[in-house]
Amino acid sequence: MINLGILISGRGSNMESILNFLKSGVTNVCPKVVISSKPEAEGLKKASALGIPTKIVSMELKGWDYDKELVSILQKYDVNPENGLVCLAGYMRLLSPEFVVKYKMRIMNIHPSLLPSFPGLNSQKKAYDYGVKVTGCTVHFVDEGLDSGPIIAQKQVPVLDSDTYETLSERILQQEHILYPYCIKLFSEDKLVVKGRRVIVTL
Ligand code: GAR
Repeated sequence: MINLGILISGRGSNMESILNFLKSGVTNVCPKVVISSKPEAEGLKKASALGIPTKIVSMELKGWDYDKELVSILQKYDVNPENGLVCLAGYMRLLSPEFVVKYKMRIMNIHPSLLPSFPGLNSQKKAYDYGVKVTGCTVHFVDEGLDSGPIIAQKQVPVLDSDTYETLSERILQQEHILYPYCIKLFSEDKLVVKGRRVIVTL
């Protein structure tokens, strides 16, 4: 059994798609807690509506001082490095190296571009403005860098001539909602083997 903690900062649509996916009959992943870095995050209400405990860590601390609070909540809900998975779902803070080492290869992130292109913020807009013909989304393990950890899976989204930045973002988001649950399922079934930067899926 994998105990899941989800970190959010805003809307929480990826969180919601993960929780709905787990509700639809996935029995080996147990969602334990949703933690938001912002008290006003819309996702908090969605998590509560789905019956998942929520916490807010919005204090003005930095780095490991802040992340220690996260660890203490995660551990209280039994999301530990031995049995846990921490999913970042629109979580807009960089984790400290201490946190990353503690939950090594047990932290995943979803990012709205085909990494390593367009890391950081506003990635859909950066891809649209650059004029790429194909973009997409990436789920990766989190390392100490910014959107730089080993890639688990990616989904392509074509950029249409008729696209606005908003329509493109919406189609990427639809793919995010499919890709993230798929990666969590692979992790829970022990099908992900990390070899350096490469993540091999053993089916
Ligand atoms: C998603 O598009 C996610 O990929 C992105 O924030 C959005 C959150 O939406 N994450 C990043 O840009 C991380 N670098 P959501 O709160 O509705 O899931």
